[in-house]
Amino acid sequence: MTRKPAHELSAEGLTLAYDGRPVISELTLTIEPGAVTVIVGANGCGKSTLLRGLARLLKPVAGEVRLDGRQLRREPGRRLARVLGILPQSPVAPEGVTVRDLVARGRHPHQRFMQTWSSADAAAVATALRSTGLEPLAHRRVDELSGGQRQRAWIAMALAQDPDILLLDEPTTFLDVMHQLEVLDLLHEANRTRGTTVVMVLHDLNLAARYADRLVVMAGGGVLAEGAPRDVISTELVREAFGLDARIVDDPVCGAPMVVPISRTHGAVA
Ligand SMILES: Nc1ncnc2c1ncn2[C@@H]1O[C@H](COP(=O)(O)OP(=O)(O)O)[C@@H](O)[C@H]1O
Ligand SMILES: [Mg+2]
Repeated sequence: MTRKPAHELSAEGLTLAYDGRPVISELTLTIEPGAVTVIVGANGCGKSTLLRGLARLLKPVAGEVRLDGRQLRREPGRRLARVLGILPQSPVAPEGVTVRDLVARGRHPHQRFMQTWSSADAAAVATALRSTGLEPLAHRRVDELSGGQRQRAWIAMALAQDPDILLLDEPTTFLDVMHQLEVLDLLHEANRTRGTTVVMVLHDLNLAARYADRLVVMAGGGVLAEGAPRDVISTELVREAFGLDARIVDDPVCGAPMVVPISRTHGAVA
């Protein structure tokens, strides 16, 4: 299988704001090409805002997002759609659309002007439906599915789109633990076998530590720490980013750093 070209996405002094109120301030970050990067941080710290800025869905107040060194805002839309795909936090499907149609929409960036559906498009949709376990639901309307099934349909669409860089905002929302792992395994597989650069926001610190090659910890409108999970996660970092007292142990399954929170009810045992 041919591997994807390694594109470098970066933010340079990036400031993103809503109604003149900055949420991200002068943030500088380079996404490592060909790696899985996971963004974590407390509620409301600006993770979704950053992801939308990186995908050109938000116009910077200052600074720049660059793709391979070129200004992202100057890239032609069609080319960009093949290179960069984003699954937002709460996507909304067009009313009445079926799972198969939604997944097929992921192929739009690959279709040339006046060119019809190709066998590569059909194969990508079939593979995405199969790998997400959605074949039995392919004919169902997306708006009639459960939250978890719907989330998987969106993941399937993102996989069918097969961009070089895939941005996902909390792709495991609404999923039970088994399906969370399944989705993260699929994204990991796309990264390792196809070379897809994956950038995702995750809520669960321990899943983040397991699946991330690079962890980006956000706080105060910027990047608090960045690097391999083992180098980044510490009791001080967790306290600073989440205001949480915790112990860090080795995940017994894969050895990744594991954050075990201390609460008022369950204090630290020596
Ligand atoms: N569309 C919007 N309009 C105004 N403020 C927003 C909008 N989206 C997010 N915000 C604000 O920006 C901040 C960061 O939000 P967000 O990026 O969604 O955080 P996170 O994804 O880390 O939870 C929050 O204070 C939020 O209220
Ligand atoms: Mg968010």
